Amino acid sequence: MGRRRILLSDEPVDSLAAYEAAGGGAGLRTLADHGPDRILDELEASGLRGRGGAGFPTGLKWRSIVAGGPAAGERFVVANGAEGEPGTFKDRFLVRNNPYSMLEGLAVSAGVTGARRAYVAVKSSFAVEIARLSEALVETAEAGWWPDVEVSIVGGPEEYLFGEEKALLEVIEGEDPLPRQFPPYVYGLFTTSPQMGWSAGQSLERRDEGANPTLVNNVETLANVPAIVSRGAEWFRSIGTSESPGTVLCTISGDTARHGVEEFEMGTPVGEIIETIGGGVAGGRILRYLLSGVSNPVLRGDRLATPASHEALSGVGAGLGTGGFIVFDDRTDPIELAHAVSRFLWIESCGQCPACKLGTEHVTSLLGRAIDTRRVDLGVLSARLNSVNDAARCYLPTQEQRVVGSLLADVRDGVVGEHRDLLIAPISDLVDGRFVTAERHRSKRPDWTYPD
Ligand SMILES: Cc1cc2nc3c(=O)[nH]c(=O)nc-3n(C[C@H](O)[C@H](O)[C@H](O)COP(=O)(O)O)c2cc1C
Ligand code: SF4
Repeated sequence: MGRRRILLSDEPVDSLAAYEAAGGGAGLRTLADHGPDRILDELEASGLRGRGGAGFPTGLKWRSIVAGGPAAGERFVVANGAEGEPGTFKDRFLVRNNPYSMLEGLAVSAGVTGARRAYVAVKSSFAVEIARLSEALVETAEAGWWPDVEVSIVGGPEEYLFGEEKALLEVIEGEDPLPRQFPPYVYGLFTTSPQMGWSAGQSLERRDEGANPTLVNNVETLANVPAIVSRGAEWFRSIGTSESPGTVLCTISGDTARHGVEEFEMGTPVGEIIETIGGGVAGGRILRYLLSGVSNPVLRGDRLATPASHEALSGVGAGLGTGGFIVFDDRTDPIELAHAVSRFLWIESCGQCPACKLGTEHVTSLLGRAIDTRRVDLGVLSARLNSVNDAARCYLPTQEQRVVGSLLADVRDGVVGEHRDLLIAPISDLVDGRFVTAERHRSKRPDWTYPD
């Protein structure tokens, strides 16, 4: 266990020729030689799990897109590079280091599912990544990677929900990032089944005609595909743990001496990852909390020996998420951290589900009042948290329950400590070895506008 590179290279891969010289392109050759069934078998046997946060089995997802045959309509494939999760910069880092493996994974997915349109979805503000992807797309098109596939880059908005797969489809169709009713593998892009408004989901029975099942995979997930299909499932399973095979790209930010992204074998202790990338906690302080984005319960500083794998981190009540670890030192009060997370989720909630928008707002204001008065009523807060995800279309309010709930469990005698002015927001860039958090988020309003 430890640092292990199968996705990242020491020097950025700056041309398709360099990628091919290092063995790239073998995934597409395997598809051409052996056909889609072999790819599906290999992916399933590899145990690859999605790197977009939930760890869903990739082989199973691909098979579900193919299921139903031509009767289910067209197929589409999407690479999710929205990277909206606070504390995560790994997809941008990967695209800057090597855009080809992800594009090859996307091309393989189009070949397997029979998709004739493929999309790479990134934020419009990711100028460096868009430029790099555009060059790589021209090169790979000239090399014949996309014979019957039209592939395009979609530039999306800054909103957190852009990365949510049901909202991502809306953005690709030119709409705002409001999650629709059904997941992409049930009703995909340009489906003829109503997705929004009063008629959406009139019948909850799946209707195959015009369903257009759409594959949405995270950028890092797709980047793993070429090596798996060409080198085999057994090779992939020899890395990592039995339930989380392979490597994981980890981002370290927050109260560490250094920030950065590095690739580790799954199962490497979390503390070793923080030490290797971050050089330990800054100023000789002690680590109190570790957040993996804003989707999983907090990991406390006495649990740093936990292996970075889905099963081990869930086993101690936390979660791997996107491997975007934000470090908080011993000056951090649990109520202030809970407030910063809750505020982010309230602002980013789209408001389609009243329990979510009103609930996250109420929890944020209760936490804000607790900070002002230095006292917290845990009973009231816990009761309010219970209902924030009633009738929710997406997972955002469940994240609120998971993160805030885990921090409330750490409050002693209802007392709130010192304030640090914490901000939870996406990383906007990597400058001189430190991540810059999007400060502008402090003034973002709950209707997604800004005072300026
Ligand atoms: C609020 C919210 C935001 C999300 N943001 C992202 C994101 O920025 N990038 C991403 O790849 N997945 C994101 N996801 C997860 C996607 O919905 C989806 O599960 C993922 O892209 C599937 O890819 P995978 O199976 O390869 O992990 C988000 C989910 C939620 C609920
Ligand atoms: S649960 Fe919240 S963020 Fe998700 S769709 Fe509903 S209102 Fe929007």
